[in-house]
Order: sequence, then structure tokens, then C-alpha cells
Amino acid sequence: MKKYTVAIVGATGMVGRKFLQVLEERDFPAKEYLLFASSRSAGKTVDFMGKPHTVIELTEENIKKNPCDIALFSAGGGTSRDFAPIFAQNGAVVIDNSSQWRMDDNVPLVVPEVNPEDIDRHNGIIANPNCSTIQAVVALKPLEKYGIKRIVYSTYQAVSGAGMGGYADLENGLKGEAPKKFPQPIAGNCLPHIDVFMDNGYTKEEIKMVNETRKIMGNYDLKITATTVRVPVFHGHSESINVEFEKPFDLAELKATLAAGKGIVMMDDPANGVYPTPLFAEDKDEVFVGRVRRDESVESGINMWVVADNIRKGAATNAVQIAQALIERGII
Ligand code: A2P
Repeated sequence: MKKYTVAIVGATGMVGRKFLQVLEERDFPAKEYLLFASSRSAGKTVDFMGKPHTVIELTEENIKKNPCDIALFSAGGGTSRDFAPIFAQNGAVVIDNSSQWRMDDNVPLVVPEVNPEDIDRHNGIIANPNCSTIQAVVALKPLEKYGIKRIVYSTYQAVSGAGMGGYADLENGLKGEAPKKFPQPIAGNCLPHIDVFMDNGYTKEEIKMVNETRKIMGNYDLKITATTVRVPVFHGHSESINVEFEKPFDLAELKATLAAGKGIVMMDDPANGVYPTPLFAEDKDEVFVGRVRRDESVESGINMWVVADNIRKGAATNAVQIAQALIERGII
């Protein structure tokens, strides 16, 4: 079996560490791992696969000196903008977790359960969608057969989505310290403010959910609106998703359709207290769906509750699945 050299860019960060964990768990066919981060961490060692790996400073010279087949990026948009093309020019396929390349027409935006075929038209960079979009489209994909007309997203997003700094703000906030990453305290609070505000009053996170859902589902006419909220949860995003359909449906049949969907685990037995929560989803790869019920205010529609670990399926697992798909589809 062919083995690959894999670079992790941002290896010391929240998602970078999870990349390493998921690659090890999945026994990824790697012959070598190259761990890149900023000058702050260069020279430090990270234990991985039973041996210490020295962190390499991310510079053009070091990328050229250390050629690789696949580069998994999670080091912020600016780093992806500046360095992903250099990896691609040096023969790697980049799988980028930032928002930098997601809406670029030359860059596929991929959730392997939804649009794996888009991987085939890559030009050196493949984008990993926003964490809240990934879990939403996994749950929406099986419902396409009812003709999706309109989607209303309301999210309850964990602090780990804001990286190590977000995590520290909740940990320290619970001890009474002031936030450093978030604009207001997150402990005991909810912030309807993820990423920056745009001119139309929406946040960039909300706009990302709208645009990325359309691109991944290949349906640019979909009507979508979103409100995204940071909540004092360490791991796992929860989403209330309201979907309106063109066609009528039978609720039991719709639930069976969801249950058969790729990457979905149904947890929908409210009479027995069964529904997904972020604590339950922590460190799991699937998207958990529950509270599926008819929206009685429209002719044909539902509400559902969708939960996933934002650092796993929402980031690292999805990226590693794309890397696995590159191999399975014979692209590398
Ligand atoms: P470093 O640890 O050297 O700062 P998180 O989002 O969890 O805070 O992680 C961000 C990751 O991105 C870290 O691994 C961080 O490395 C890395 N990173 C941030 N800025 C740069 C940069 N300019 N060049 C390379 N890596 C960077």
C-alpha cells in the first residue's frame, strides 16, 4: 500500500492536535508527519505516534525543504492565504480548514457524506467547510428528496470553535476572570456574535452558513437564514434547523430516511428522554439528530436538533475523511 508524507500546519492548535489524534486513530497510511506552526512553537516537540516530532517554523524555505503529498491546514485565514498556494505549487494537495478559500470557484468545498465527487476537480486546494455548516449539511442531505425550499438555522456553538483562546476564556471565566478572546464574558452568558458583524447586520459566521450550504449542496437558489450564538459549552455545536419542503412527507418515513443517511445517528425518543447533547457528542465522529417534528405553522416542514463535535466532524475528522477520499478516488 502506498504511503504518504503528511504536513499538519497549525499542529499546536486546537484543531491541529485533533488532526493528529484522528490520523492516529484511523491508522492513516503515512510514512512521515511534518508538524508546522509559527516561530512561537518552532523547535518544541510534540509527542505523536509514540515518538517526539519537532515543530517546524512555517516559512517558504521550510516548505520547499520538506516536500509532502498532503497538507492539512488549521492556522487561520491569513496563514492559509499566504502558504497554502506554496504547498500546492510544491506538489501537495492542501485541505484547508480556514474560510480563506471556501467560496473560491476553483476550490471545492467538501463534506464527504454530501459531495465527495467535488474532490475530483481540485486544483491543489480543497476547502473544509465551517464547523456549523458541516453538521447541518450532513443532516440535510437525505432530506433533498422532499425538495428543500427554505432553511432557518439557529446555532448554539461551543467555545472550542474559537481555538485555544476561546477555550481558555470559558475556563478562566468560570473562575471569574475577564475574557481575552471574546468581546464579553462567555461564562454564564450567550453571545449572538460569532466572527465579525457585516453591513447587513448579520455576522460573518451567519453568512458563511448560508453561502457554504448553497455551494456544498450545489443549489444556489436555496432560501436560507441564520442566527449563530456562542454558548458556554466547551465541545460540540448544537443547531435547531427548521426546514420547509416543496413536497408533502410522512413523518415516520422522513425519520427513517434521516436514520439511513450517511454519517447520521438518530437519537429521537423524547418520551424516554433520548435526544442528542454536546456532552454526549464529545469526541465522536457522527452527526447526532433528534427532536424531529412537524413544523405545524407551514404546509410541509420540520424542526430538528442536530449536534456534533465541532473539532472532530466539524473540523479534523472531515478534513481527514477528505484526505482518505483523495486516496480512495485514486487522486493521489
Ligand atoms: P503557534 O502555536 O505557534 O501559535 P488555535 O486556533 O487553537 O489557537 O491554533 C492556531 C494554530 O495556528 C497554532 O498551531 C498556531 O501556532 C498556528 N499559527 C497561528 N499563526 C500562525 C502563523 N503565522 N504561522 C504558522 N502557524 C500559525
